[in-house]
Amino acid sequence: MNRRRFLRHLQQSPLLALAAQMAGQQPKKALATAKDALDVFDFLPLAEKNVQSQHWAYLMGGSDDDGTVRANANAHAQWQIRARRQVDVDQIDTSITLFGQRHAYPILVAPAAAHQAFHAEGEVATARGAKARGAQMILSTNASLQVREVAPAFGGPLWYQLYTQAEFEVSKRLVGAAEQAGCTVLAITVDSATGSNRVTANRGGVKTEQRCRACHGLTQADYYKEHGMFEGIDPAMAKAGGRAVTWTLVERLRALTKMKIVIKGIMTAEDAANCLRNGADGIVVSNHGGRSENSLQGTMEALPEIVETINGRIPVLIDGGFRRGTDVFKALAIGASAICIGRPYIWGLSAFGAEGVERVLELMQTEFATTMKLAGTISTRHISPLHVRRRMM
Ligand SMILES: Cc1cc2nc3c(=O)[nH]c(=O)nc-3n(C[C@H](O)[C@H](O)[C@H](O)COP(=O)(O)O)c2cc1C
Repeated sequence: MNRRRFLRHLQQSPLLALAAQMAGQQPKKALATAKDALDVFDFLPLAEKNVQSQHWAYLMGGSDDDGTVRANANAHAQWQIRARRQVDVDQIDTSITLFGQRHAYPILVAPAAAHQAFHAEGEVATARGAKARGAQMILSTNASLQVREVAPAFGGPLWYQLYTQAEFEVSKRLVGAAEQAGCTVLAITVDSATGSNRVTANRGGVKTEQRCRACHGLTQADYYKEHGMFEGIDPAMAKAGGRAVTWTLVERLRALTKMKIVIKGIMTAEDAANCLRNGADGIVVSNHGGRSENSLQGTMEALPEIVETINGRIPVLIDGGFRRGTDVFKALAIGASAICIGRPYIWGLSAFGAEGVERVLELMQTEFATTMKLAGTISTRHISPLHVRRRMM
């Protein structure tokens, strides 16, 4: 593509332009192989080319004017790394332990709905990519495929993300299927039970002529009939929560399962304190990738008060705008136990299937290890608040 055509392409693609702005550079031409990617943003041109426009808008967009998507990205730049020199970093340990299980890197695969909207092999491809890099995958309630189909491709215990359902019986069936498939952690999402104002996604949907049956039907009942996770559940009964996930509801869910309970979507110290008080096993600091309330608060801005409240008693995971190893390092330095990535692995999935997911994870893992060395930290346990400083504005 010559420069003029490229610029015209950019003009026609505001979402790609937004992504480029977030990357701090223009996207390059489509990759030939996953290995050619030098950072996660390199997947963008091919991913966008491969994906239907309404799916792309669904993936890239947030709420209202996408302000919180940008806030997540910008919040990482508010933190600087204080690098220590002259430390022998020949051998470093990048691993962490969560709920008794060792993970080679503190980078997990966040739950995201409908992977078949991005690649025909859907969550099975994601699972293979995650497995190849030893990264923990969290499977969404709204996955295109069922947990029992994805678990063998992952080859280890998945974590399962739950959207509580209007009928408790349906939530119970979903939790039962997850436990039966060997999941060890139940991440209950609490940030979007009442829906959100996805302008970019809806605009993308309006533009296109047909709806895609791979990820949704024409009606709510169709959606559940065709959605992997809801197989065998009466579509008339299946309906997402529509109301807040109260602690009473969490209690009822906890009584059903031996899985660890992680609350996903915490953004304040007050709610973190409630999680402790109510016996949550862990939390994910998250605003749903800027797709929930348009708070304009990046998750990295919320992290310090939450870490202070939790004070090491349970794991604190975080997601939102993690695109580079330096982002991961900074979150750990502030006090996070691990981070999750959302959109980047779907860019990889859209571009190259399992290989793309694998390469996205490899890039972030390698960048993280490089950052650890450059900052003079020999193990994740040695990454401390002394390794970051808030930028003076
Ligand atoms: C396309 C897409 C689908 C998502 N689906 C879910 C979901 O089903 N359940 C959930 O808890 N979070 C979902 N999320 C939110 C992610 O788990 C995660 O919080 C977010 O993507 C992290 O931000 P990032 O995309 O900037 O990395 C979704 C995010 C995206 C982009």
